[in-house]
Amino acid sequence: MAIALSKKVQALKPSASIAAKQRVTELQAQGRTILDFTLGEPDQDTPEAIIEAGVAALRGGDTHYTGSAGKLELRKAICEKLARDNAVSYSPDEIVVAAGAKQIIYEAFAATLESGDEVVIPAPYWVSYPDIVRLNGAVPVIVECPPEAGFRLTPEALEAAITPKTRWLIVNSPSNPSGAVLEREHWAALVEVLERHPHVAVMTDEIYEKIVFDGIRNCSPVSLAPGMKDRCLIVNGMSKAYAMTGWRIGYAAGPANLIKAIIKLIGQSTTCTTAFAQTAATEALRGDQKPIADMVAIYRERRDLIVSMLNDIPGVTCSTPGGAFYVFPDIRPLLGRKGPDGAIDSDLELVSYLLDEAGVAVMDGTSYGMPGFLRLSFATSTATIRSGCTAIGAAIAKLSD
Ligand SMILES: Cc1ncc(COP(=O)(O)O)c(C=O)c1O
Repeated sequence: MAIALSKKVQALKPSASIAAKQRVTELQAQGRTILDFTLGEPDQDTPEAIIEAGVAALRGGDTHYTGSAGKLELRKAICEKLARDNAVSYSPDEIVVAAGAKQIIYEAFAATLESGDEVVIPAPYWVSYPDIVRLNGAVPVIVECPPEAGFRLTPEALEAAITPKTRWLIVNSPSNPSGAVLEREHWAALVEVLERHPHVAVMTDEIYEKIVFDGIRNCSPVSLAPGMKDRCLIVNGMSKAYAMTGWRIGYAAGPANLIKAIIKLIGQSTTCTTAFAQTAATEALRGDQKPIADMVAIYRERRDLIVSMLNDIPGVTCSTPGGAFYVFPDIRPLLGRKGPDGAIDSDLELVSYLLDEAGVAVMDGTSYGMPGFLRLSFATSTATIRSGCTAIGAAIAKLSD
């Protein structure tokens, strides 16, 4: 007899972005050329100095378990980074290191949520948030943040979403998928609301913090209102800023009692994250930061190219993202047009059509809580952006009214 699976796992959807990556790999293995805009990670490799630090650590015997909080030296380097870049003050016992920001988010919810608790999630959201919330028995409360609001959570929408059951607000800025950035003035308005609701904790997922354009600056609410420090969890990691997705290092800064609870969960699950990767992450945070500026300059050029090419396609409206490496074009005017297999009534159907007709892989907005939009990653070459957008335009031109 097959092993029975728990109800909570049966209800869990596979990660949409991981599924898309698999679909592209399968099609490529069948010999099809696919222009891939689904990538959720930098296309560059980790900067050389960080790789060297990892290799030297391995050669030097850095091959053992570390404490479950993460190495003290790395936690000190994280405190230095938080003071330097975010103007917030933390001590190493308020920091925990895990196998990616994703593990941090999972453990923080596991440590705090009871059945029936509510978590406010602005949409469009990162695909994993609602599933992680549900997996921990709680209820995602989705708040729509339309393009007219710059895809940002407004104080009014936040106020309306909070109930006595709200435990967390989770905010991702710069945002995957919209690229919207919450700057100081946006947070100032949200903090005013949060001050009226002291039972609501705030998780800020700042993983794309370094990828911002045109002088836009991300803001941590803790830096605005010191009173927020007791109920904020800052989540960040090495994956995007340092092109270190495969090293699996994320971290959080927060109140010591919550950090201790997360450390306890790590101690009973993964024990710790990889030792030599922690040493390399310490080097990344303390070493030369120029590779980040170089990467951001490349992303900026690609952003400008993809935004302008998409806006040239009739029926597509693409706003310019302030950060991260995604665009989130509005394709609602195209819905209802007819393709070879009948009307295209949803972003999901458009995604399938573009894959079949144009050999272009993009993500559907539905997976991010906003139907009628697409997500394209520009962590890919300008050649792919040029050919991909041209192919998308040609495929859309073939649709009839
Ligand atoms: C918004 C957001 N948060 C967290 C993560 C996970 O990052 P990590 O590699 O640190 O687990 C991602 C990865 O795509 C992301 O887009």
